[in-house]
Amino acid sequence: MKHLMDITDLTTSQIDDLINTANDIIVNPEKYQDICKRKKLATLFFEPSTRTRLSFEAAMVELGGSVIGFSTSDSSSSSKGESVTDTVQTVSFYADIIAMRHPKEGAPLAASRRTTVPIINAGDGGHSHPTQTLADLLTIHREKGRLSNMTVGFCGDLKFGRTVHSLINALSRYDGIEYVFISPKELVIPDYVKANILDKNNIKYIETNKMDEYMPSLDILYMTRVQRERFFNEADYIRLKDSYILTIDKLAKAKKDLSIMHPLPRVNEISVKVDDDPRACYFKQVQNGKYIRMALILMLLDILV
Ligand code: CP
Repeated sequence: MKHLMDITDLTTSQIDDLINTANDIIVNPEKYQDICKRKKLATLFFEPSTRTRLSFEAAMVELGGSVIGFSTSDSSSSSKGESVTDTVQTVSFYADIIAMRHPKEGAPLAASRRTTVPIINAGDGGHSHPTQTLADLLTIHREKGRLSNMTVGFCGDLKFGRTVHSLINALSRYDGIEYVFISPKELVIPDYVKANILDKNNIKYIETNKMDEYMPSLDILYMTRVQRERFFNEADYIRLKDSYILTIDKLAKAKKDLSIMHPLPRVNEISVKVDDDPRACYFKQVQNGKYIRMALILMLLDILV
């Protein structure tokens, strides 16, 4: 019985296996096209999504399986007051594997305790988004050929950005990783991330509100959206939302092989003019998300080839 709730559920060797499988799927898609025949994936999305839900669905279809599910809670019986655990227990009679997004932290974990099929956390509140992290790791690996010995800048909403916390957790397992955290003071990286991951593992990091000063040192720049849906106060969101906007000018002093990443959706954080820069990797992340989710489905269904 296996679930994926958090990136910490995976060992480094399992992450490496998933990256290898995803790379093989990219090169040999025909090997995998019928491998999940008669298997069903359910996507239960209680919170909006474009990339995660559709890439899971495309992943299962490309593996030869099929997909059921809902994309908004108001189209399910949760709108009548049914609990998440009852919903998931019900769906487990119809599907072989479930990908679930929910605004409440821990909802997928609670659901996983009442099911007979693997549950994948497709994002739970501000807590965790492990499959985005896997997409990010695959992208970094394909861009750099390694996951070690890099200076990684995170910029924007480092407080509520669940993809940031998960990626720090995953990358910190590899040697020679250093971080530059660029954010307004209201959106700094949480203390528990510093204590439990960075300080505990003696990982070097800098906290700053100045993007320009540290740009030349970065191998990766991971931009993030200020997470409006996690703010209690709209006025604070308005004040902070455009704190950092990456433009072509700001990249003037960046390395020639910088990788610019963003989990998307973007609002204003990256000028569309940057999209044509060869260093822009955020749509590669989107594409890689499908391949790594294909690999994950195979791992959780015990059909690794
Ligand atoms: N990156 C990400 O989770 O995108 P969606 O919200 O569109 O799924």
